[in-house]
This record gives sequence, structure tokens and C-alpha cells, in this order.
Amino acid sequence: MTDTFLADILAGLIRSPKTLPSMYFYNKAGSKLFQTIMQLPEYYLTKSEFEILDTQSADIYKDFNPSNRFEIVEFGAGDGSKTKLLLKEILTHTEEFVYSPIDISKSALKGLDKSYKVELPKLNMNPINADYFSALDGLKSKSTTKLVLFMGSNIGNFKDDGELDFLKSMRANISVGDHALIGFDLKKDPRVILDAYNDKSGVTREFNLNLLKRINAELGADFDIPSFEHYPTYNPITGEATSYLISLKDQNVRIDNKLFHFEYGEPIFTEISKKYSDSDISKLALSTGFEIVNNYYDCKHYFVDSLWRAV
Ligand code: AVJ
Repeated sequence: MTDTFLADILAGLIRSPKTLPSMYFYNKAGSKLFQTIMQLPEYYLTKSEFEILDTQSADIYKDFNPSNRFEIVEFGAGDGSKTKLLLKEILTHTEEFVYSPIDISKSALKGLDKSYKVELPKLNMNPINADYFSALDGLKSKSTTKLVLFMGSNIGNFKDDGELDFLKSMRANISVGDHALIGFDLKKDPRVILDAYNDKSGVTREFNLNLLKRINAELGADFDIPSFEHYPTYNPITGEATSYLISLKDQNVRIDNKLFHFEYGEPIFTEISKKYSDSDISKLALSTGFEIVNNYYDCKHYFVDSLWRAV
């Protein structure tokens, strides 16, 4: 793990512009900060998706309509607070399914396992600690009917349109008739979106800077944290909410005995959280081998969980 972590960090920092992979946000401190983010007044995403699952889980299950034993595989399960609503509803119909949550964060997965054992003791669970791409392979071997969950707008976090490749690989590893439920954050008033990544209390700032702290702690780097600042942007045309860490001075940083130079004002691109329109979503389904079965929106039309069927 440390080896690929180091290799990924070095690879990102020799690029121009410099970039760091957002999947490394989620160490113990980062997962905790994200849990705080989910409760911020500005961070509407979690509340919107919670409302969808709270009010429409029965419809989702009806539309999924499995005929025999099935498996639910969740990519980026996190703390499971929203998925729990869906699983609870499904358990009122059947217990004949396995739930396999996949997450890159060991601490998130451990917490999930613990809370599910207490709250949904009948749930048959098989947690997997992996990143998305290694987990895709695991889909292939199983022949049972599948529902793949990719919630919380995690689909928006791929750099360089990587969601296309990810969805194509996912499609290649499941069968015709299998389903995917994907959570998309929708294009809306750009100010609402930007505020969600620029909260007044500064938790998102801490979350972004925590990546440098983690690199210091785990890779022995010497980032001077106060010399970098969180800078979020939103482009309403592309739908890209992007976050950067800006170097506040001309400085050098040492990682693994290599020296990296940062100019005054130079950005490190750390995160993309892409927003979609309804037509963006239709195009994405069409070009990756799926058809849309149904869309479930929150009352403000801020977020959609889109149920797809592999064709
Ligand atoms: C958990 C990746 C969906 O992109 O909105 C929250 C992460 N970053 N605030 C998102 C995040 C800054 C979040 N995802």
C-alpha cells in the first residue's frame, strides 16, 4: 500500500500541472473530516440523497425486481448511512441476498461492519477493502443477479472523464439484465455548488489540506501546511467542481529524497466533483451499455439516483 501510495504521489507531482489523487483523502482523519462535511449546512449532497432513499427505496426495489438470489455490490460504501435505508427496505421483502460493500478506507469499512451488525443483524454481509479498479475484477467471477451501487456522487470524482472507462469496465464485468444504481449530483445554481466545497467553517479546507498532512506522516515528506491554501472552483459549462491546493510562496518540498519546486501561486489539482444534467446522464448510460430504468430525484431536484439496466 505504501509503495503504490508513494508511486502515485510522485507520479502526480512530476506532472504539469501538478496533481494528487483524491482517493488518498480517506485515511482515518480524512474519513472523519468527510463525515463532518456530510453534516455541514452547505453540503446538500448527502441530505438530498438521504431524502431520495428515505422516500423512494420501495420504488427502487420494485423497479429492480429481482427474480432469484442476488448480490448487491457497493463501490465506495463509506459509512453506509444512506444505503442502510435501501437495505432496510429490501430486507422487508427478502433476506436471500449478499451485500458486498467495497471501500478504500479500512476504518470506514470497520465502522460499517459494526453498525450493520447491530442495526441490520439479518443482513448477509461481505466487506471488501479495495480501490474501485481492483474491485471491478471481483464482479466477474460471480454469476448471480447483481445490483451495483455507486452512490453519493462518487461517479463525479474521476479525473480526465475516467467515469466512461469505469462504467464500461463495470458493464463488461456484469451481465445483461443486471442493474446499477448511480448517484449523480445535478447541475444547478453555481453558487449552491461552490458553497458546498467552500464551507464557512473551513472543514472542506481541512479535508483538502489533510492530504498533505497524510503525505508528511506516511511518506516522511516535509510539506509546510500553512504555506498551502484550499481553492475551490466551479465551471457551470463543464459541470466540474475542482479543488486545488495553492502554494502561498516559492518553496521546495522533499519527498522520498526527491525535491519538488513550487512556485508562488502554483496549484496542485487535488479533486474533481463533476455535476451532470439529465441529458449528460442519458448520454453516459447510452455510451456505456446501459438503459435508464428510472430516475429518483429529491424534492429540490439537486440530486438523482439513476437506476440503470445492462443491455
Ligand atoms: C465523497 C467524493 C462524493 O466529491 O462531493 C466533499 C467528497 N470533497 N467535499 C464530493 C468531497 C469535498 C465528495 N465525494
